[in-house]
Amino acid sequence: KKPLVVLGIETSCDDTSAAVVTSDRRILSEVVRTQHQLHESMGGIVPTIASTGHMKNLPSVICEALETANTNINDIDCVAVTRGPGLPPCLSVGMNAAKTLAAVARKPIIGVHHMEAHALTARLTTENADGSCLPAPAFPFMTLLISGGHTLLLQANAVGDYDQLGTTMDDAVGEAIDKASRALGLKWAQGRRGGPGVALEQAAAKGDPSRFDKFLPLPLSEREWTKKIGFSFSGLKTAMIRMVEQHKIAGNDQDVADAAATFQNKCIQHLEQKLRLALDKSVKQNNTPLTALVVSGGVASNSLVRSRLEALASSYGLPLICPPPKLCTDNGVMIAWAGIERYQAGLMDDYEMTTIPKWPI
Ligand code: KG4
Ligand code: ZN
Repeated sequence: KKPLVVLGIETSCDDTSAAVVTSDRRILSEVVRTQHQLHESMGGIVPTIASTGHMKNLPSVICEALETANTNINDIDCVAVTRGPGLPPCLSVGMNAAKTLAAVARKPIIGVHHMEAHALTARLTTENADGSCLPAPAFPFMTLLISGGHTLLLQANAVGDYDQLGTTMDDAVGEAIDKASRALGLKWAQGRRGGPGVALEQAAAKGDPSRFDKFLPLPLSEREWTKKIGFSFSGLKTAMIRMVEQHKIAGNDQDVADAAATFQNKCIQHLEQKLRLALDKSVKQNNTPLTALVVSGGVASNSLVRSRLEALASSYGLPLICPPPKLCTDNGVMIAWAGIERYQAGLMDDYEMTTIPKWPI
């Protein structure tokens, strides 16, 4: 039987991307066009500017993805597109392109939940830099999705079937990291995806994570919260911004490094604490044992996050599976792959489908 060939389109935030992926797990092409410079000068992502960028870039991004894969729309089995959650004007650009392409070529269309795509990417076995292969986790597995828009703890039971165990009550971890990075006056790292987060990680690598410990409280660690699964990053973010101002930290390289390291450590400690609660609960309740801990989303490309969560997972006898960094940040590959998984599960959509900017999983 011939493998499925799927075109994936992702325009939910500021990256315009398209990719062609097969059901036998080959990535035939992946094209990402970022708008970093544009948004860095604005100090953040402006939805209407981002959607104008998608409008300009998407046709050539899709053409390049098809050409690099040495295919054309008639040879594609299905078009997958991010349906939500995301910025309304940005989602529309991708949705309209995908529906028109699919309708003209008479191909099925699949609307993909952006967070489901982040989670399922872990099942797309890909080659590591050293040539070894990541194992594909079977269901059920625990998933921590950490990005600029979400901090979500899910138990993945099957394609389209997730138990939400916890989410953030305010800011997403990536959002807090971005604000902290900005307060420290860090320049967005060039040549790598993830902008402010990468800059913070690089600064933190040279810092002492205990130096400013007493100024940055561990979120949701008060007595009434110790047993509850949930996240909160806004208090930590505000404490960080206040500390940077009061101690005049920005501008002094060592102070910046120490503050970045302390802040990064607190974010990770908070993730660890709540993840342990979720794993304890799951070990107690599950008839079918978990197969893995999957961590994905832009913040999962942080190497300290990876190594700390790997240690945590192994203390529960679970492997940590993170997609390779470039598949942790937003990309078309994950949309194409989630499309393949949904197609195989018979979860098709129709051409009247609309975007769902706020879409619980
Ligand atoms: O998944 P993603 O690309 O987009 C969203 O769906 O939000 O995640 C972007 C987030 C940003 O907040 C960015 O600063 C953060 O991921 N990020 C990082 C790193 N790389 C990206 N945070 C910490 N360390 C990194 N190396
Ligand atoms: Zn994302």
